[in-house]
Amino acid sequence: MDFQWYPGHMTKAKRQMQEDIKLIDLVIELVDARIPQSSRNPDIDALGKNKARLILLNKADLADTEKNRLWKEYFQEKGYFAVELDARNRAGMKTIQNVIQEACREKIERDRKRGIKNRPIRAMVVGIPNVGKSTFINTFAGKACTKTGNKPGVTKGKQWIRLNKHTDLLDTPGILWPKFDDQSVGMRLAWIGSMNDQLLNTDELALELIRYLTEAYPGVLAKRYGVDEQAGEPADLLGGIAQNRNCIRTGSEIDYSKASALFIDDFRAGRLGRITLETPI
Ligand code: G4P
Repeated sequence: MDFQWYPGHMTKAKRQMQEDIKLIDLVIELVDARIPQSSRNPDIDALGKNKARLILLNKADLADTEKNRLWKEYFQEKGYFAVELDARNRAGMKTIQNVIQEACREKIERDRKRGIKNRPIRAMVVGIPNVGKSTFINTFAGKACTKTGNKPGVTKGKQWIRLNKHTDLLDTPGILWPKFDDQSVGMRLAWIGSMNDQLLNTDELALELIRYLTEAYPGVLAKRYGVDEQAGEPADLLGGIAQNRNCIRTGSEIDYSKASALFIDDFRAGRLGRITLETPI
């Protein structure tokens, strides 16, 4: 399968981000906790040079708890601040506020030495499509925030959300583009639903996911679909899933496409359990 992306849009997005990044102290980068490496674009490291950096392992509720821990350590060892997150849940936001202060400690200290007190940290959310940027901004900002900037007759500028007296957030997230030099990255992005499904071969996606799961998470398919994981090749298991879920055409022909779509959907919704698709190297 050949995974494609659309560089045209991305050139514009990158230019916009270069401009926006000049205005901020902290880059809050969301990645998908199921594929923390494949869902990031390393170009952000050059774009966000000299800025404080926080990585949110979002959708951590769908990912393997042990792998979440490993990935968090992995990013921390590389010098990022890192937090596991379910962006839909307000409960995690207090931790993030604390980590933001921690990540920007140097800047706060610099300000203090210059006699600037309580200047809010300016932050911006970035990430590839569908990682949960809007959800995070909505949950984090909550109802209590006020929009600042862009006042008529004053300055024509960016919209900022005043989160609290310590933090301003740029109200539009920066959209990064997925990057894949190798096809396995494209495959992982497709598994979590970050590629346009119309352009993909769902059967092939399903077969590859079956192959991965039987190796990395033995027992998961047996539990959900009652298939014997030892019994054969991925195609045989897909047939078993089809039978278990009654994906049969008239004339008792197996409907592999329907079974593939159903299986991928189960995975994306977390119905197969908490699963991570890559491990830190
Ligand atoms: P984006 O701005 O980065 O493009 O992503 P967005 O916030 O639109 O989120 C994409 C989808 O991911 C949404 O689901 C959202 O609810 C879901 N999501 C965001 N954060 C989390 C999380 O931490 N855990 C889980 N499990 N899901 C998360 P959707 O199906 O597109 O829409 P809806 O279900 O909210 O209607």
